[in-house]
Parts: sequence; structure tokens; C-alpha cells
Amino acid sequence: MTKTPLREMAAWKALETHATTIGTKHLREMFAADARRGERMTAEACGLFLDYSKHRIDDQTLSLFQALADECGLEDRRAAMFRGDKINLTENRAVLHTALRAPREAVIEVDGRNVVPDVHAVLDKMAAFAESIRSGVWTGFTGKPIRNVVNIGIGGSDLGPVMAYEALRHYSQRELTMRFVSNVDGSDFAEAVHGLDPEETLFIVSSKTFTTLETMTNAHSARVWALARLKHHDAVAKHFVAVSTNAAEVAKFGIDTANMFGFWDWVGGRYSMDAAIGLSTMIAIGAENFQRMLAGFHAMDEHFRTAPLARNLPFLMGMLTVWYTSFFSAETVAVLPYDNYLKRFPAYLQQLTMESNGKHVTLDGRRVDYQTCPIFWGEPGTNGQHSFYQLIHQGTRLIPCDFIGFAHSLNPLGNHHDLLMSNVFAQAEALAFGKTTEQVKAEGTADWLVPHRTFEGNRPSSVILAEKMTPEILGQLVALYEHSVFVQGVVWQIDSFDQWGVELGKVLAVRIIPELESAAEPELKHDSSTNALIRRYRAMRRKQA
Ligand code: F6P
Repeated sequence: MTKTPLREMAAWKALETHATTIGTKHLREMFAADARRGERMTAEACGLFLDYSKHRIDDQTLSLFQALADECGLEDRRAAMFRGDKINLTENRAVLHTALRAPREAVIEVDGRNVVPDVHAVLDKMAAFAESIRSGVWTGFTGKPIRNVVNIGIGGSDLGPVMAYEALRHYSQRELTMRFVSNVDGSDFAEAVHGLDPEETLFIVSSKTFTTLETMTNAHSARVWALARLKHHDAVAKHFVAVSTNAAEVAKFGIDTANMFGFWDWVGGRYSMDAAIGLSTMIAIGAENFQRMLAGFHAMDEHFRTAPLARNLPFLMGMLTVWYTSFFSAETVAVLPYDNYLKRFPAYLQQLTMESNGKHVTLDGRRVDYQTCPIFWGEPGTNGQHSFYQLIHQGTRLIPCDFIGFAHSLNPLGNHHDLLMSNVFAQAEALAFGKTTEQVKAEGTADWLVPHRTFEGNRPSSVILAEKMTPEILGQLVALYEHSVFVQGVVWQIDSFDQWGVELGKVLAVRIIPELESAAEPELKHDSSTNALIRRYRAMRRKQA
């Protein structure tokens, strides 16, 4: 499929010219010229309110965003995704995470088969299992109820579950201890099982492929750890369940496939937290709350699918990311949740955004001649304010920010919440409007100090507001970013759903393992740096031994 190169599109060229005009304007001027800008440049969907007025855009920018979307065929591509077309071209797969949260009666076909009943059959099986753990009906090999659940997985099989557990911890069954192991570093495993009783511990081995080195290594160590106490191989069936698409490997590991929760190749790893990969989430918060989260996802799917682009939250956010990345050379986006429960949200978004859009060739294999995915990063407010905000306010880089805040705290405590939220509004205000030299001078600041105390402003941010952190809102937020990533990928003409870039390192590591482990000095055929590092590592290991 050959498309018009992006930079040759009329709307792209118009945006390039337009960016030079906008580049000379300050947000102060734009607000001064339009008293209603702060109310006008907002949009609302489901339970999320988006203020995008503090962005370096005007009405023409927004029309050009739409013109570019038209030229890129965004609406057709969106329809193709929701329909189940194989839009993940390099893997020849449909991209149907939206089917994971479709209502029971929906019909979505892949290769002529309606997948919605399959999705709900797994959800029902997960619900029954989660309930049996939560109620204590499911017992371990020695008859004790399960008190600890350890999810073993990495990437999409870890980041979503950890993030969702932390985000919805308020709704979780507190008697259950939830832990997560991802890193192949033995310390991660050791700390995750520290203090746990194997008789009361359930491991969920979560891996789409069931071949991922980190996960399988941790799963084998977990089996050794559990059987060291439980002694009998039959204990595996009571203490291990699997979430995977690969029944053969699950069986080979020794897990009864009756205790396997499946999903499908049309669910990308980083889009799977609402598939069976969410089993740990469901055990923690219960099936009903999990359904509420799915309803939130679905509501945002419907908004993205049907709302006019001018009011479409994922469209607006996606285009803003394209705008700063491709026209203003912004290299990063900071995601700043002012809710401690969202502390893992930026880490989750890193895989979602960067594994999806960190690509340098178009769908038809041409090298792009524009920047694609920026680096996403962030920390919960207000901690970030006392760490990296200095650079956002006064550094030399343009860093668009997403502030996320709530009207109500789940833990009202004195005036904590108003203090917290005052910082959201203050930070966005300070970034946009700054503090002029005149203002600083008028405060009687010594001349030499004035430049240091001046804030240029004109630094863009979005503010996303919701009532409070609920399962529905979490689903909406995640779907908002999923679809924003989709919009960016369509404009940049890349395959947002493959991840070939993670392969090379994995292959090389597998080649190096025996070179680290062999007793005899291996013949090394890498570059001189890699050879020398391996030799030094081996020498250091020998010294320790
Ligand atoms: O990092 C590469 C990747 O393939 C991710 O896309 C995926 O989420 C992760 O590894 C884990 O894969 P699996 O679920 O198959 O173990």
C-alpha cells in the first residue's frame, strides 16, 4: 500500500507554514485576544474533561489538524481497526483490543468468526476463578486459602496489571497481598516472594507467547520455590495458573490447561490489560469492578469511534502530540498525574506509546523524513515539582505536559486535596503565562537576578479532569491514550502494532548467555568492546568465586 508521502500532503505543508506563524505567538497574546479561549478550547467525553486551551494552537490549527486527518484517511483507518481488518500489516493481524470491552451482544468478526462470545467466555471463567480466590473456596495444595497472588510477566503482561492494581488499590480486597515480578534480575523475584508462605501463594504466569525469557525464568524459579515447601508435583495445579495464547507451552510447563485463561493474536501485549492479562486485577478488585473498568474502556471506544473530530478527545490529544513532535521538534511529553494511585501510569504509557510508535519506517517500508513518537515520561505530582519541573519551566526544551487531576480524593484528609489540585492549576498557569521581566523587576528584584527569576512561559499543557479515580475512569483514561497513539500512528503512516525493534537485543542476549556461563574460555567473535566487557565480567565472576 503506497501512500502519498506525509510531507507532500497539502495539509502537512499548510501546517508547516502555519507552525511558523504560531511559533511567533505567545499564549499570553492568544488568551488576551480571546476572552473565552479557556472555555472554548475544551472538550468532554464520558467522565473526562479536557482543557487544551493552553496549547500553541488557534482555530486554524484545529481545522488543519482535521484536514490532515482527512488526507491521511484517519476515519477509514479507524473504521478498519474497529471492524477487525488486519491493520497490523507486518504481523498480518487484526487489532481488536476494542473487542475485549465490547458488550456481550456485539458482533465483531475476525476471519468470519464472531469473537465477542469468546471474549465473554474468558471473562466469565476469569470471574468464577477470581471469586473462588477472593472467597477462599480455592485452596492451595495443603488446604489453606490463597492469601498472596504473584503475577509473573513482563512488558504488557506486567505493566498493565501493576498499573491497574495500583490505580484501583482503593477498590481491592485488602486481605490479599498482590505482588508482581517482571525483571529477570533474581532480586525482583526474591523480593516479590519475601515473607510469603508457599502454601498460601498463587502464581499467575502471564505471557502471551509463553516463551519470553524473563517470564519463563521467573516462572521456573517460582515452581522451584513453591515445590521446595510443597514437595509434591501435583501442587503446581493448585498454585500456578497461566494467562497465554500458547496452550502447548503452558501444558509443557506443567500447568493444567483447565487453569489457563486465553486470549488471541489480535490483542497486542501492550493492549492486553483488559484481556485475561488482567486476571490479577480482577482478583484484586473483583469481577464487578473489572466490568466497570471495561465499561469505561468501551465508553471511550464509542466516543473515539463516533464523536466529531472537533470534539474527539483521542483525536485532539493525538494531533497535539504530532504537532509538537513533528513541527516544533519537541522530544518528550511529560505525563503528570496528580493522584498517587496513578503512580505507575507514566510507566505503563511508556510501553503503550513508545513500543507502538517508536518506528522509523512507514507501512510501505520507506524511511520517514519527520520525527515520530516522542519520549513519554512522568511522575505523580507534586513529587515531580520538587525534582524535574525546574527544567520544564526554565530549561531550553519544549516539553508538552499532560496534567491529570480529580475533583474528589478517595481519601479525603483535611485540605490535602485542595492543596494538591491547586498545584495542577498553578503549574499549568505558570507554564503558559510565565512571569515577565517587567513583573520580576516590579517586585524590586535586583537587576542581576532578574533573568534568573523570569519565566518565559508559552509552555504548552493539557489538563484532564475527572470526578474521582474509579474503575470506569481508569478504563477511559487508558483507552484515551490507546486511541491517541492510534491517531499519531495513522498520521505518521507507521504500523503502531508491531514491535520488531525489541528483537535484535533478545537474539544477541541468547547468543551471549553461553559465553557467560561456559567453564572453558569461549572464543568471542563480537566487536572489541563487547568482547572486552564479556571477558571482564567473567574475570570478575571468577574472582568472587
Ligand atoms: O517487549 C516485547 C514484548 O513482546 C511486548 O510487546 C510484550 O508485552 C512483552 O514482550 C511480553 O511478551 P509476552 O506476553 O509474550 O511474554
